[in-house]
Amino acid sequence: MVQPIQKILVTGGAGYIGSTTCVALLEAGFSIVVVDNFSNSSRTPLDRVLEIAPGSLVTYEVDVRDTQGLGEVFAVESVDAVVHFAGLKAVGESVANPLNYYDVNVGGAVALLQVMQEHDVRNLVFSSSATVYGDPEVSPIVESAPLVGTNPYGRTKLIIENMLRDLAAADPSWSIACLRYFNPVGAHPSGRIGEDPLGVPNNLMPFIMQVAVGRRKDLVVFGGDYPTPDGSCIRDYIHVMDLALGHLAAIRALGDISGCEEINLGTGTGSSVFEVHEAAQRAVGETIPMRVGGRRPGDAASCFADTSRAMRLLDWRATRTLDDMCADAWRWQSQNPTGYQ
Ligand code: NAD
Ligand code: UFG
Repeated sequence: MVQPIQKILVTGGAGYIGSTTCVALLEAGFSIVVVDNFSNSSRTPLDRVLEIAPGSLVTYEVDVRDTQGLGEVFAVESVDAVVHFAGLKAVGESVANPLNYYDVNVGGAVALLQVMQEHDVRNLVFSSSATVYGDPEVSPIVESAPLVGTNPYGRTKLIIENMLRDLAAADPSWSIACLRYFNPVGAHPSGRIGEDPLGVPNNLMPFIMQVAVGRRKDLVVFGGDYPTPDGSCIRDYIHVMDLALGHLAAIRALGDISGCEEINLGTGTGSSVFEVHEAAQRAVGETIPMRVGGRRPGDAASCFADTSRAMRLLDWRATRTLDDMCADAWRWQSQNPTGYQ
């Protein structure tokens, strides 16, 4: 008989998406073992996770590339499944320092999978990204669309995805949900945990929120001459709470997954940069300075998900609106103007 999943190891659980997912998992009654090396986070989000959702959560400061350290965790904690968030995620940084990205992302995944195999744990939810679709020819994007890595970060995700497919083909006792996130934004509605980028944010929502809170002068819209209705790029922004609930749904669906399933997590609706800016102004209740600048190299004009697979396999859909995303992002930013510091 298949054992029900009770204890989940969450790598990168102190990060933005990981900490929000820990809340969802604790509220659903799971026990959690977090493994994080805190290279892009601290223990504070985990303390706040437990404030929001008191429950069973233990933390190990271990690097996912460290097979010995990971093995010790698996030996002590009998986990039933792993959610693998840990990794590096900045496209520009991956171009400047590709070896570090291959080492942490690909090396970390290899090490984790080896230790999981040794300890007979074959239930995995993996953080992939819509970046694997490159510059998509059509949106909505279905999971069978062509895959292409357009930068080192994207190529690490593609390599890991291929590795997971090879592993599942070699041993179908693996149950793997490979979740391709679109654009996660927003924060837990408590305002206690959220996205805390180091330095100048690369992503749109944290940048807008830092302008709104007075940390940056103005938002520069990267290109107003794209072939879209208002000329700015279109993306599928998804509330991080919806994303967290998508992971919960994936954990619950693992028992029905044999092998590796790729699943888009998005809303299925695209919003332009100008629309996000307007929604952010509604949430903040003030004008947010903005100007239109040149295009950012590598940006696709339009990218949004076909979400039918997630509905079918996970019985999950995103329910939160762009206004919800901006309201929660603003609550987090205004209550924590300098993030966790
Ligand atoms: P994050 O940086 O906030 O969280 C990642 C966590 O992993 C951090 O706590 C960091 O300290 C930890 N970590 C990094 N390297 C580690 C290592 N070698 N060993 C142990 N821990 C390590 O990032 P996030 O936004 O929460 O993203 C989580 C995952 O989702 C990543 O794999 C990312 O590629 C993927 N993803 C993110 C987005 C996004 O826009 N945020 C989009 C698509 C996919
Ligand atoms: N943008 C601006 N000004 C800014 C920041 C962003 O106009 O200051 C625009 C971008 O040009 C883009 C949109 O806002 O049109 C969203 O940009 P993000 O950087 O927030 O998100 P991307 O879609 O470019 O990238 C995200 C993740 C990547 C991932 C990719 C595909 O950050 O890691 O989605 O999944 F690879």
